[in-house]
Amino acid sequence: MRSSLETVQSLLFTRDMLDPDNPTLFNAIHEQPALFITTRTVHALHGGRLEQYLDRHGLSRAAWVQVLPFSERTKELPMVVAICEAASALGLGRRARIVGFGGGVCTDLCGMAAAIYCRGISHLKIPTTLVGLVDAGIGVKNAVNLHGSKSRLGTFHPPEASILDPRFLSTLDARHLRCGLAEMVKVAITCDPALFELLETHGTDLLASGFTHPASAGELAIRLAVKGMLRQLAENLFEVSTYERAMDFGHTFSPHLETVSRNTLLHGEAVAIDMAMSTLIAQRKGVLAPPEAERILRLLRRLQLPVSSPFAELAGLGASLRTVVAHRNGRLNLVLPAGIGSHTFLREAESLDTACLAGVLEELGGPDA
Ligand SMILES: NC(=O)c1ccc[n+]([C@@H]2O[C@H](COP(=O)([O-])OP(=O)(O)OC[C@H]3O[C@@H](n4cnc5c(N)ncnc54)[C@H](O)[C@@H]3O)[C@@H](O)[C@H]2O)c1
Ligand SMILES: [Zn+2]
Repeated sequence: MRSSLETVQSLLFTRDMLDPDNPTLFNAIHEQPALFITTRTVHALHGGRLEQYLDRHGLSRAAWVQVLPFSERTKELPMVVAICEAASALGLGRRARIVGFGGGVCTDLCGMAAAIYCRGISHLKIPTTLVGLVDAGIGVKNAVNLHGSKSRLGTFHPPEASILDPRFLSTLDARHLRCGLAEMVKVAITCDPALFELLETHGTDLLASGFTHPASAGELAIRLAVKGMLRQLAENLFEVSTYERAMDFGHTFSPHLETVSRNTLLHGEAVAIDMAMSTLIAQRKGVLAPPEAERILRLLRRLQLPVSSPFAELAGLGASLRTVVAHRNGRLNLVLPAGIGSHTFLREAESLDTACLAGVLEELGGPDA
């Protein structure tokens, strides 16, 4: 298993990876056989340039591009098997690598397939969404759903490299950009006030322009988000050394919201609602000053992220916390903002009383929301 340091070093930031003069992808592939797995949407938008790049660099003889019908609903084991079948049909062995070229669904499925094909082969992640660039495409985890149960099956299988190219974002729709912004806001609130300010200043322009304007602010924001995320993850890469994880901010109530909405709420949207709830819980618990809570809610709203939902109802949320506590070794460990750029934990489930949760839901969903 790789160390956290090696994982951090394998991040390759680049601009326009598919420019024929850009050596990043060529260098990452070396001479080894590579099976690129992508989705219909990404293939339609970027597949032509990928194939031209592979041709131009003489990689086509040992690189194949396979398009599979991925979505959150089909993100289950049969799709992992489909990737392995594609590799097997090509006669690929242990020297080969799988390259996930797409959003987090694609890179997760490819990471899972790489973890089990021939008992584990290398893989590369080339995220094409903002969630991918700042989250799914840079970590060591891969997961699929089990009969709709979110990320129930998964592996820790670090990619050999992640190629991070914000240029792909120019074709991404605003809703999915917002979901990535939610993950960046998570990092900003918990550990990076400079990133928070950057998003306050440029977030709406970046959202409107597909991260092309102002380009330097977009690149900086992505770098800071990646750095913050990895700094937190590196301390606990395989999630066994502690169950107090800053990057769980926004990820306590959100799995339930995603499940009950049957994924009509996207992950980042559910995370935004969870962050809004946690912010008001922090305010009520006296760990966050009201002006800072207001600043957080203002940023979420400015980025057009939801802070409430009909799916956020008391009974369901309360019941879902039992699963969270089971996952966190018997504690709630709810991450609360303790200022812009710092956080604390509400450790015991008993500390979150029903009245507090009800009050927060009312405040967020109320007429002034
Ligand atoms: N492994 C991890 O650590 C980790 C972390 C966060 C999220 N995830 C997973 O990632 C998934 C969410 O990822 P996502 O938000 O990237 O969703 P996604 O992969 O479903 O992609 C979102 C949509 O954007 C399309 N798309 C992708 N790139 C595009 C582009 N450049 N231009 C236009 N359209 C494009 C896709 O076809 C899809 O329709 C979830 O399944 C989540 O569980 C994993
Ligand atoms: Zn997330």
